[in-house]
Amino acid sequence: MCGIVAVIGSRDAAPLLIEGLKQLEYRGYDSAGLATVDPRPESFGGLLTCKRAKGKLVNLMQLVEKEGSPGQLGIGHTRWATHGKPEVRNAHPHRDSSGGVAVVQNGIIENYTSLRKQLELEGIRFTSETDTEVVPHLIARELKSLKKQTKNSISSSMLLEAVRTVSSQLKGAYALAVIWEEAPDALIVARRHAPLLIGLGEGEFLCASDTPALAGFTRTILPMEDGEVALLTPLGIELYDSEGQRQQRSPSLLNGVENVANKRHFRHFMLKEIHEQPETARLWVDRHLPAGLPAEAPVALPFDEPFYEDIERIQILACGTSRHAGMVGAYLLEQFAGIPTSVFYASEFRYSAPPLAPKTLTIGVTQSGETADTLAALAMEDKRRKEHGGSAYASRQLGITNRPESSIARQVPHILDIGAGIEVGVAATKTFLGQLLAFYGLALTFATRRRSRSLEEIISLTRELRDLPNQLSNLVDEHDQLAETLANRFSDTQNMIFLGRGINYPIALEGALKLKEISYIHAEGYPAGEMKHGPIALLERRVPVVSIVMPGVVYEKVLSNAQEAKARDAQLIGVAPKCLETEIFDTLMPMPKVSEWISPLLSVIPMQLLSYHIAANRGLDIDQPRNLAKSVTVE
Ligand code: M6R
Repeated sequence: MCGIVAVIGSRDAAPLLIEGLKQLEYRGYDSAGLATVDPRPESFGGLLTCKRAKGKLVNLMQLVEKEGSPGQLGIGHTRWATHGKPEVRNAHPHRDSSGGVAVVQNGIIENYTSLRKQLELEGIRFTSETDTEVVPHLIARELKSLKKQTKNSISSSMLLEAVRTVSSQLKGAYALAVIWEEAPDALIVARRHAPLLIGLGEGEFLCASDTPALAGFTRTILPMEDGEVALLTPLGIELYDSEGQRQQRSPSLLNGVENVANKRHFRHFMLKEIHEQPETARLWVDRHLPAGLPAEAPVALPFDEPFYEDIERIQILACGTSRHAGMVGAYLLEQFAGIPTSVFYASEFRYSAPPLAPKTLTIGVTQSGETADTLAALAMEDKRRKEHGGSAYASRQLGITNRPESSIARQVPHILDIGAGIEVGVAATKTFLGQLLAFYGLALTFATRRRSRSLEEIISLTRELRDLPNQLSNLVDEHDQLAETLANRFSDTQNMIFLGRGINYPIALEGALKLKEISYIHAEGYPAGEMKHGPIALLERRVPVVSIVMPGVVYEKVLSNAQEAKARDAQLIGVAPKCLETEIFDTLMPMPKVSEWISPLLSVIPMQLLSYHIAANRGLDIDQPRNLAKSVTVE
């Protein structure tokens, strides 16, 4: 949540900040702002200019174009509101009372109430409702006292010193960038439990919350570690750990990060990303199911033998769509590979985890790799296992992510990179497919190693997975058109029900989540067999029911559940292979005849496209739906 950028160098900062913010707008779009420092040749120090605008980045761009913001040092922010409404007064950067210190922050300062009270007692007047505003005031107070001690001899390390002192007073998870007009050659950045990376250019540095903001600037990056603070000047970087020890680390190379602000010919990123799914599957198949591997062990996953040894149970921690992928994963790991598996909302697990069980693999699923609840749940699980001790209870963690350079990769020892390419639309689509595929790879691997499935079953699932890119390609094209035609009928719908069972129950949940988040239509996903225990009371003529009826153990059962809905006059939309039985549906979104195992990888496509076209019909902001952000870095 929230994106920050900061730059120091020899070029005008404002255009670089705006370019960076464009790539970070997916993290929040309630307001945007920037501050720059222009050195004053005639005297010591510089002049700080701050521009802020409510709403999307384009508003800030217009303001900066009109009024300008000079200087080669600057910080920028795009906001997802936590404390205080999306208003200009709450937009970052926030400044101290003199206006000389400016700060952007991503995260939450949890002890801001007591800090604010203290500062107010000292006579400071606050101008916003944010948690962040305490930071510039605290830094200014610190600078004042440092200036006194040094008899006004100002240096860039003085700002570093002040930020370090203030950081030690802050509680919570945050990333900060700070500038001070009296030190026009110093940029200070700091991180604690929120991401921040430094990009190294020639005689200039750009820092950002995420790699896409750096990709157009440099390929040489230095991801900051937790607790680190850095002083950047045009001459170089001084990096310090939380103890104040100077750190020396070599930068790394940024690979495969595309410029995310390109929609190609599609109207929205979400539609583009839905259409990229055959390619996501093709890349996964090429990488993990290469021809030439033995039929009894067809999957190539990047882990050595010991990784799979004596795992007796698996627990999956995730949020939102990633949790739905985890639910399909749990079904596969239990039913196909025979390993007892549980799925938890990461936000619940972190405060009410079940008693520790031995020989457990914990899998965190997060496309962004930055979801605060998922990271905290993984950290909590790791800690309690280390405290417990004993090899049977040892912490074994795996992350499934689309961002192998993100925080989860620095937190857990094993990463399965889904390699779907950056997803910009807030609604997850191609990354969901990538997460599902990661679970298919794991389930196949465990099943072959444990011999929980016959060779024929392994070969059959492998064959279907290899054919998936083609199946998806046809399905996406066909359903794009179909969903567009259908959408008209459902654009004014107030409530919609999604039903599925077994391996397709999570797809019903995902269908409902997609519709809610981008079309703002109330929707519920239900296990089809549960309808009769209450929710069936909701059904009537105006409530469309989407029923996922794929061949398999529950095929007849879900058909009967659909009949029950039809008997209550609900409009029935079937996601099912065309045949005699599916004539009960008012509308059929036809599916290919595939095995039950593989069906979620296909049945999710009509869910995504129906939601997309309904939202498009309603004229909504599909890629940046209200109140949401792509990466949820607050609790
Ligand atoms: O980055 P993550 O996968 O950890 O994100 C988890 C959820 O915030 C995310 O899936 C959210 O539910 C999406 N907006 C769904 O489309």
